[in-house]
Amino acid sequence: MRVIGLMSGTSYDGIEAAAAEFELSGETVRMRPLGRLSHPYPDQLRTRIAAALPPAPTSTEAICVLDTGIGQAFAEAGVRALGQLCDGDADLVVSHGQTMHHWVEAGVVRGTLQLGQPAWIAEATGLPVVADLRSRDVAAGGQGAPLVALLDALLLRGLPGVPAALNLGGIANITVVAPDADPLAFDTGPANALLDAAVRHFTGGTEEYDRDGCGAAAGQVNPVLLRRLLDEPYYRQSGPKSTGKELFHLPYLLAALADAATPEPNDVLATLTRLTAVTVADACRAHGVSQLVVSGGGAHNPTLMRMIADELPAVHLSSSDDLGIASDAKEALAFALLGYLTVHGLPGTLPSGTGARHASVLGSITPGRQPLRLPAPADTAPGRLLIVASPLAD
Ligand SMILES: Nc1ncnc2c1ncn2[C@@H]1O[C@H](COP(=O)(O)OP(=O)(O)O)[C@@H](O)[C@H]1O
Ligand SMILES: [Mg+2]
Repeated sequence: MRVIGLMSGTSYDGIEAAAAEFELSGETVRMRPLGRLSHPYPDQLRTRIAAALPPAPTSTEAICVLDTGIGQAFAEAGVRALGQLCDGDADLVVSHGQTMHHWVEAGVVRGTLQLGQPAWIAEATGLPVVADLRSRDVAAGGQGAPLVALLDALLLRGLPGVPAALNLGGIANITVVAPDADPLAFDTGPANALLDAAVRHFTGGTEEYDRDGCGAAAGQVNPVLLRRLLDEPYYRQSGPKSTGKELFHLPYLLAALADAATPEPNDVLATLTRLTAVTVADACRAHGVSQLVVSGGGAHNPTLMRMIADELPAVHLSSSDDLGIASDAKEALAFALLGYLTVHGLPGTLPSGTGARHASVLGSITPGRQPLRLPAPADTAPGRLLIVASPLAD
């Protein structure tokens, strides 16, 4: 089955599309990646997303406009992926949508809202769409995140030592796959969320992020500011746990700067980069991680990668590319896999990762142009994932 995954993370830097062929036989799922592309959000839509994100107040009118605009942008990304990655031939689209709110109270997730009306995607591509993948896990008592954990666990299982996958998006999340133990997965804290907010703030919005970590590399860590930021209770909570930009936003950073004045912007960037490295490293040390497979936009930041390596001298760092999954495509491929499991009646969550009462079949399905025909339900959940290069039969 040929599946397109569409994802935009908390950084809302654009939509990542990836396609893959999947085949399930017994405990093994084979995945053959077909490529990836990035599809930018129109400037006006990005501005609207930024304006509606917490802690800003918003209106149901703004939410309606965003649901439509994001749905249309995802539909364009889906059409491009269908043409450019799949030669016009695919079976399913899986859309994460854009998270606008992840509602956490006292460590419990009470709701999570991803916008991007899937009807636009189904209408434009003619394909059935699996969307809204997080809500069912929340309804089953889970965090609804990190959902990439299933792909990580299947991919890393069997590697030597205690392997872990780290994704450095707006938020950083880790999946630890210790031998003979259930996988653990949780958000460690901000990866780029505060860094991006600082860069936008200091440049008046002309720059979106600290390109290649140049600002942080030119600055000095302010230990007082770092200590102030590390006071955040989230870091001391044990998993399962998840967080988002509801917590780690610009006013949060400005409050810390009010307590620990740091006049030089590059020193703020250096400190925020170190904060990500320290919180990631603390999570790795707490779980005895011996090798870390990194993905996500933060993997392109050499200053961040150097600081993580400094904090974890005994841990072997590599990229998910080395395992056959392009670092920037991993989350989109993870969602493609989850939707593939959904249409086979298979769960997409690990209760040990999200904290749910049980594993759930994820998402809601919007039919495509043809009557909805689902594959026969599979009776064995996959135990391993093989990345293959040659075409699959299924
Ligand atoms: N060359 C780079 N140098 C520094 N940071 C980068 C670079 N490329 C991407 N990033 C960071 O990665 C972020 C996007 O990562 P991504 O994995 O798409 O996150 P999300 O899943 O939250 O959208 C950007 O906002 C930026 O902070
Ligand atoms: Mg992104």
